[in-house]
Amino acid sequence: MAKILTGIQSTGTPHLGNILGAIIPAVDMANSTNDESYLFIANMHSLTQIKDEKILKENTFSTAATWLAFGLDPEKTYFYRQSDIPEVSELAWILSCVAEKGLLNRSHAYKAATDLNKENGKKDVEEGISAGLFSYPILMASDILCPNATHVPVGKDQQQHLEITRDIAEKFNKKFGNIFNIPEAVINEEKTVLGTDGRKMSKSYNNIIPLLSGEDELKKSVMKIITNSQEPGEKKEWEDNILSSIYSSFADEQSIKELQNKFTDGIGWGDAKKIVFEELNKLLTPIREKHAELKSKENYLEEILQSNAKKVRAFTKPLLEEVKSSIGISKF
Ligand code: TRP
Repeated sequence: MAKILTGIQSTGTPHLGNILGAIIPAVDMANSTNDESYLFIANMHSLTQIKDEKILKENTFSTAATWLAFGLDPEKTYFYRQSDIPEVSELAWILSCVAEKGLLNRSHAYKAATDLNKENGKKDVEEGISAGLFSYPILMASDILCPNATHVPVGKDQQQHLEITRDIAEKFNKKFGNIFNIPEAVINEEKTVLGTDGRKMSKSYNNIIPLLSGEDELKKSVMKIITNSQEPGEKKEWEDNILSSIYSSFADEQSIKELQNKFTDGIGWGDAKKIVFEELNKLLTPIREKHAELKSKENYLEEILQSNAKKVRAFTKPLLEEVKSSIGISKF
């Protein structure tokens, strides 16, 4: 049976682009597969970026609540927190003694960090780069190899990390025996959702449509969507329009057709935005409520993560024992 595994960086509250592009498709896939699926919050990876205990904890918690609010079934998917599986850190050290340093020197994330230092004229190109950031790909290899995953759905930006993982697993197997599956990357073509200014929706562009921050914020962001100076009564073009593109990314076919007809009939931009807001609000209200409810039930959420971690450790503990004995660090 395939073992499908992927990790989520806990970067805080998501926006419309995140859920339509990544979360909803991943939840659908996890809930519908007959294979074993593993989904975890990579809070130890986030530690390479976040150095504030409150923020890291809050982000981890909010990420867990978000995935559950969008319907992830924690009875069907092993849904856990990376730091609750100590075998992951232990295996990471062992793998770091197998991986070649040169492999990490070529890693995109590390190269991007040193390039930025060069660009900024820093004398020491390593300035501010932690050893954790440098060995990020090893921890990721450990996430994947520890439960012995066979398939890893990721975005294109993670492809190199999967190649590094395969390289490490092959080297290990060759030297110490066939313990690890050689995992395959399953590259997701993420759907691009436009932001309020027509560029790809992204926090760094300040053009997002938030999901969980309440009706007023939602309305404000929809009102910000850029249109043109056409008056009510004038026919509006459906193609190459930011408002119609955003609406089409989430509404059902019937609703899309109706708005398209209203464009032809010359609906005013204000009224069109009102329709977009109302439909979005209809879609998001139950999710917002579920998220708030989960956030107020910290113990319940904690229990889900703990019981899933326990199930995962039932596999990772014996695997780690096997690894330790194959390399010679087990009991005499
Ligand atoms: N690096 C991944 C990202 O930024 C997150 C991640 C951590 C991950 N460990 C993983 C993804 C293991 C897949 C498998 O998106």
